[in-house]
Amino acid sequence: MSTPPALQGKHLVLGLSGGIACYKSAELVRELVRAGATVQVVMTEAAAQFITPVTMQALSGRPVFSSQWDARQPNNMAHIDLTREASAVLVAPASADFIARLALGRADELLGLLCLARPLQTCPLLVAPAMNREMWAHPATQRNVAQIVADGATVLGPAAGDQACGEVGDGRMLEATELCDEMIAFFQPKRLAGRSVLMTAGPTFEAIDPVRGITNHSSGKMGFAVARAAAEAGARVTLVTGPVHLPTPRGVRRIDVVSALQMLDAVLPEAPQHDIFVATAAVADWRPATSAEHKIKKDGSGRPPALAFAENPDILATVARLPADRRPWCVGFAAESHDLVRHAREKLERKGVPLIVANLGPATFGRDDNSLLLVDAAGERELPRADKLSLARQLVAEIAARLPPAQARASAA
Ligand code: CTP
Repeated sequence: MSTPPALQGKHLVLGLSGGIACYKSAELVRELVRAGATVQVVMTEAAAQFITPVTMQALSGRPVFSSQWDARQPNNMAHIDLTREASAVLVAPASADFIARLALGRADELLGLLCLARPLQTCPLLVAPAMNREMWAHPATQRNVAQIVADGATVLGPAAGDQACGEVGDGRMLEATELCDEMIAFFQPKRLAGRSVLMTAGPTFEAIDPVRGITNHSSGKMGFAVARAAAEAGARVTLVTGPVHLPTPRGVRRIDVVSALQMLDAVLPEAPQHDIFVATAAVADWRPATSAEHKIKKDGSGRPPALAFAENPDILATVARLPADRRPWCVGFAAESHDLVRHAREKLERKGVPLIVANLGPATFGRDDNSLLLVDAAGERELPRADKLSLARQLVAEIAARLPPAQARASAA
């Protein structure tokens, strides 16, 4: 696959202040480098109590800076030079003390100094707090966090959970993979800022009896990728999903369902609250007309039980038929085995939606890559084979370009 890594071309200054979460920063450097970024590590004296500069140098491939008096910089102005080429400064972990320093604009050690001296327009500051829950909840910390946000910083996390001190609560630094995903998301264009997206994804499972049912090979990967891409693009995203084994993309609200009827029940009240509806779910077309209360047993006759089927409602078509003031802008997917364009056009008409995204089902189910064909009134456009997340980002851009201008929705959350 030829898609460049998501952070290719990005140069990041990773600042570490003192905290036990420094152990996660080693992994974070690896994740950022794996995602294509170059990373310059800057550590406070306190950070060096928790992890050595040697480790961080080895992982980043660059000598670590920790002092504003570092003579390695020819002009002795590390605080200036380090951020001039940087795409962003990420402080992870950001201790309560360091956040307080940022809030005050203190410049008495290198990391605080370079945050203050960075060019505000070109070098954004992101901080990942890490501290004991009482420290996080303290009004002084909350005041300082509000101040740095007002000054333009982006705060990532913190998460809730077990803390090194043995207590449980808010204040854990996000995990390395989560922080890396946050950085990737941060750099994505905010094409759907202020918009909301409702999605369906995955297969549905139609019960025959308590232990069996009818389902299909949809893994949900494409739908989850679109949900992630929409969230990265700044949208508020609600994802209604059938049974899949996938983690929820960060910032996405997830509603789990099993059957097509449950999916419809979850989607209908949500639809008028959203600007866009993207139906990626492989909804079972039929369900057993009745689901047996107990497991159906062999009766010894050698004859299989006769199953009667009922047709499931078409969720996409139902949403597309809502009255205009309650109807989101609808995008359908079409998984076909052949004759992609003809079937996609036919679905565009039959379901009454402005855009159908067609793909070859057997060639994509469960895989990490795919290719898509966009079919709308204007014609067809191919998005060539790539990993599903890259395709999802392209699709989000295509949707954003086709959206009618934002209109105020009385019911929007
Ligand atoms: N869809 C839906 N509800 C259904 C069936 C399909 O919302 N009961 C949506 C899918 O999520 C997808 C689009 O309709 O966005 C097309 O789904 P697909 O299974 O390809 O088409 P069908 O309408 O089922 O037509 P066919 O089985 O004849 O290909």
